[in-house]
Amino acid sequence: MNKITAAITAVGGYVPDYVLTNQELEKLVDTTNDWILTRTGISERRILKGEGKGTSDLCVPVALEICKKRGISPEEIDLLIVATVTPDMTFPATANVVTDKIGAKNAFGFDISAACSGFLYALDTGARFIESGRYQKVMIIGADKMSSIIDYTDRTTCIIFGDGAGGVLLEPNTEGYGIIDSILKSDGHGREYLHMKAGGSVKPATLETVNAREHYVYQEGKMVFKYAVSNMAEAARDVMQRNKLTADDIAWLVPHQANKRIIASTSQYIEVPEEKVMMNIHRYGNTTAGTIPLCLWDYEKKLKKGDNIMMAAFGGGFTWGANYIRWAYDGDQYGK
Ligand code: UT7
Repeated sequence: MNKITAAITAVGGYVPDYVLTNQELEKLVDTTNDWILTRTGISERRILKGEGKGTSDLCVPVALEICKKRGISPEEIDLLIVATVTPDMTFPATANVVTDKIGAKNAFGFDISAACSGFLYALDTGARFIESGRYQKVMIIGADKMSSIIDYTDRTTCIIFGDGAGGVLLEPNTEGYGIIDSILKSDGHGREYLHMKAGGSVKPATLETVNAREHYVYQEGKMVFKYAVSNMAEAARDVMQRNKLTADDIAWLVPHQANKRIIASTSQYIEVPEEKVMMNIHRYGNTTAGTIPLCLWDYEKKLKKGDNIMMAAFGGGFTWGANYIRWAYDGDQYGK
């Protein structure tokens, strides 16, 4: 029998309705539309509003869209992995909340915390379950309600992040389509430059931590930028080299959407031209684990069976990596 690979068979996405524009941010902090656009490429981002709404509420429409496209019931899902750094609660896992909300009664689920690389980590993890031959339908969702941990008085971070989610279904394939290879890396020394200071077991929430605004994203942007530029590009190059792929072989680069300058330097390094680079940062900002599947969602109709797709990400941890996918279906088979 041919080797089993984990093919992506459908994509879903969801962004909340509320649009937070650069113009609105100009009223909140000392910034300008021009600065944000030229330094990051972002025009607007989406924010999940409403009492009692969390990351699971971003995931539910994604999961239901995927089920609808594939014509399956949530009860057919074997496993749900949610990549997020903004879980509904510290525990239980957001995946458990989502399986309950969608009626995925036969699925087990867990979360992966790898910040902006979370979707790549989760995709690769999910692929192993399919390749084992024991599981037939594994759903992977990258989702973050970043607005829940962003300080809207800090101009260095509030301009970047937004809320959103995207996901895919993995199913067994014996024709060589799906997740072919990946390089995933982490380096904990990078936590110094990108983290949330309080709310974990080291520094549980107190009145003091709240007053000191320590429950928000802390980022030393310049340092993160420097590491992101080199590591994301090198991971993509290494995956290409060991699979004997040249830039001409790549149909699409799907980069994490953190900053259009990081995206440009990654694509230039591996010599993939701009027209083959998926980009939606201008509309959604940085949705952390959501960016890569949201790109797939936006570009799904353009994807063709057999396309070689290179995904690359860098984020908090530090974590980074690149995944090589051979696309399994013509994207225009699903209307959106
Ligand atoms: O996705 C997870 C990983 N995260 C990333 O990959 C983010 C990586 N970092 C970045 O994208 C960029 O570093 C930022 C967008 C966060 C910042 O851009 P930068 O070009 O690195 O700016 P900077 O931090 O070097 O700041 C340059 C200047 C500073 O002023 P001075 O010191 O030169 O007077 C900042 O205070 O820009 C100032 N500045 C701003 N000005 C207007 C910083 N933020 C703003 C702002 N509006 N929002």
